[in-house]
Amino acid sequence: MDKFMAERIKSPAVRDYMTRKIVRVDAGTSIARVSELMSRKKISCVVVEKARRPAGIITERDMINKVIAKSRDPRLTTADSIMTSPIFSISEETDLITVRRIMSSKKIRRAVVTSSGNRIAGIVTETDISKALSEVLFSKLDEIKLIYKKIRALFTDTVKALFLTLDAKDHYTGTHSKAVAALACEISDELGLDAPTKRNIYLAALFHDIGKIHIKDSILRKSASLLESEFEEIKPHSSISALILRPIGELKGTIDIIMHHHEWYNGKGYPMRLKRDEIPLGSRIITIADSYNALTTNRPYRAAMKPGQAIKMIKALSGKQFDPAIVKVFLKVIRRPRAYKDRSALIYPII
Ligand SMILES: [Fe+2]
Repeated sequence: MDKFMAERIKSPAVRDYMTRKIVRVDAGTSIARVSELMSRKKISCVVVEKARRPAGIITERDMINKVIAKSRDPRLTTADSIMTSPIFSISEETDLITVRRIMSSKKIRRAVVTSSGNRIAGIVTETDISKALSEVLFSKLDEIKLIYKKIRALFTDTVKALFLTLDAKDHYTGTHSKAVAALACEISDELGLDAPTKRNIYLAALFHDIGKIHIKDSILRKSASLLESEFEEIKPHSSISALILRPIGELKGTIDIIMHHHEWYNGKGYPMRLKRDEIPLGSRIITIADSYNALTTNRPYRAAMKPGQAIKMIKALSGKQFDPAIVKVFLKVIRRPRAYKDRSALIYPII
């Protein structure tokens, strides 16, 4: 639990949870008298004093174990001969979690609670502390849920703001990224990936090209095919995307996926020429969704391909640019009605 959360559920002081009803008896008091006091005052524990200072504690259990079980005469047995001593005392300001830690490390089951001036204010038992902590935790649960909800909303807003930045720089890249993210989700569903992995793949797809904000508009929006030198300028965008997102802890699982979304299955991609399983699974999924969407949308330098043509091209590149196992899954997914009906929606429920 981080410091912020720990602060939010800081436990209250023991003062509000101790038993205030205490009875003090002198060390020389007989156990018969102690027993009578306990019954009359309806208490299960008394503080034994010597020279008006607390010297020990006697509980009902002490009387059973140390007097009755040993056949001692309660009239002749004095309080100081069966009390538990020395007694452990804690300030009434001490918080419940600290009290529990102290009790467990010292292996004690009860303690005397003192107020200012070292006066006895009450007694607290292990059971009192456990009950109190459960009450506190339950009462804080709603508060913690609310904080968690706020943190989630903050993250979702960050994702939206980041996406709007990308979209403002280049609307095509924004629209394309949303569609790639939706298709990558459908492929991930078909692969049966777990929710956290799917979430990382979705977010990685959404921001895979955010590094393009670094590229000159004259290249990004060029209406003719790119020159070799211009293509070289575009290449670092996957590494730049990863660099931009790295400071956001919640996006940690997307960094490698984004970094390698232009690797080729045969090792001829970039930036690191990884091949086969060396390429993160998410990148192998996104690269297919990325290519399919790019091929089937209009670009200033060429018209959109028909879906059938694009599928044919992806099949032809299976085993070269694309992982053949994922191409198979893609072919299943692309031929059926869309799982995510609105591919232009920004935030899916998986976030
Ligand atoms: Fe890219």
